Amino acid sequence: MTESKPEIRSGLDGVYFMESAICKVDGANGRLYYYGYPIDELAAESNFEEVSYLLMNGRLPNLSELSSFRERMRAARAIPGEVIDVITELSERSTPMHILSTAVDMIGSLKREGPDRKSTYIEIISELSSVVAAIGSISATGRYTRPEDSLGHIENFLYMLKGERPNKESVEIMERMFILHAEHSSNASTFSAIVTASTLSDIYSSTVSAINTLKGPLHGGADEMALRMLNDMRGKDIARYVDNTIALGGRIMGFGHRVYKSYDPRATIIKGILESVQPKASAEVRELTKTVLSLEAVMRDKVSSKGIWPNVDLFTGPVYRYLDILPELFTPIFAASRAPGWCSHIQEYWKSNKLLRPTVFYTGEVGKRYVPIEKRQGE
Ligand code: CMC
Repeated sequence: MTESKPEIRSGLDGVYFMESAICKVDGANGRLYYYGYPIDELAAESNFEEVSYLLMNGRLPNLSELSSFRERMRAARAIPGEVIDVITELSERSTPMHILSTAVDMIGSLKREGPDRKSTYIEIISELSSVVAAIGSISATGRYTRPEDSLGHIENFLYMLKGERPNKESVEIMERMFILHAEHSSNASTFSAIVTASTLSDIYSSTVSAINTLKGPLHGGADEMALRMLNDMRGKDIARYVDNTIALGGRIMGFGHRVYKSYDPRATIIKGILESVQPKASAEVRELTKTVLSLEAVMRDKVSSKGIWPNVDLFTGPVYRYLDILPELFTPIFAASRAPGWCSHIQEYWKSNKLLRPTVFYTGEVGKRYVPIEKRQGE
C-alpha cells in the first residue's frame, strides 16, 4: 500500500515547533518585542548589557542586578592566549566568520563545559564580542588589544577593535546596533543552535552551529552582501539593475523577510541613524546613502506589493561604514550582538528538552538487490 503524501511545508514556513515567551515578531504590522518590550523603546533607552540581562532572565534588572551582571560579563572578556595565536595564524588565510567559528569552538574545547551551566551563557555573550574585536584588530594591524576593565561592554568592544578609545557617538550608535540585532525569535541561526542543543550537546557547540548558519547570504551574511551590492550599483541605473538582477533569478540583498511582510522596524531605526549622521559623514557614506535611498524607492515601486520591504541588513552596512568598519566584519558583529538571543533560546529550550528530529517523505525506491561491482552494467 502506498503512503499518502503528507503536507510538506517547504523551508518549514509557518511550522510551529514550540512555545516561547522571548520574542514577538509581528510581521504583518512591522513590530518587534523582546519579552514584551517594543524594540524602539529598548533601542532608544536601554543598553546591550541590560538587554542581555532581559533576554537571559525574562525581566529587566534593578540597579544592583545590572551591576553584578556587568561585572560577570567584564570578568569573561579576556580571550585565552592560545585562541589569540590561532586567530593570528588564520587572519591572513581565512575569512572572519570562519575564524570566529573556529575561535569559539576552541574556547569551548578549552573549557570542556557540560550541557548547562548558567554562567556559561554570560561568558559566551562577553567572549563573542572580544573574539570579533580581536579578529578585526589582528587582521587590520596584526595586534591584539587587551580588554579594558574600566569600560562598558560596547565601549570596550570598540576599544579592542580599534585599539583606541571610541568617541561617545560611536558608542551610542554601536549600542543601538547591538540591541537591534540581539534577538529575533526562531530565525535560521537560532533554530540551528536549538537543534544542536536539543541533542544535549554543549552551549559552545550550539553557538558554533548558530555562527555557521548566520554566515549565509540569505541570513546574517546579507549585511555584507547588501553593502557590496550598493557599491556595485553606484553610478548605474538602479531600476535597470534591479530588473536585470531579478530577471536572472537573483535577490536584492537587504530586502524581503520570511516573517515581515511590511517594513522591518529595525530597518526603520537604522535608516534613522544613517540619516542623522549625514552632516558629518564622509563622501563614501553620503554616496552610499544616496544609493540606498534610491534603491529603496525603486524597490517600493516594483516589489512592495509582494510584501518585499527593507530588512535589518539594508542600512546596516552604510552605518558601519560611518563607524569605519570593514564589510567583512559586519556579519561577525551581527554574531556578537545575536549571542544573547541564541543563549536565551537554548536556555528556554532546555527547560523541556526534546530531541529535534523532523521527518521527510521518502520518494525513492525500496527492495533493490545489491549487485557486486564487477557484475554492474555501466550507466
Ligand atoms: N529580491 C528579489 N526578490 C525577492 C527578494 C529579494 N530580496 N526576497 C524575496 N523575493 C521574491 C522571491 O524571488 C520569490 O518570488 P516568486 O514568488 O516570484 O518566486 C518571493 O519573493 C518569495 O521569496 P522566498 O525566497 O520564497 O521567501 P522567503 O520567505 O524564503 O525569503 C529571504 C526570505 C530573506 C530569504 C528573501 O527575502 C531573500 O532572499 N532576501 C535577500 C537576502 C536578505 O536580505 N536576507 C536577510 C534577511 S533579514 C535578516 C536575517 O535574517 O539575517
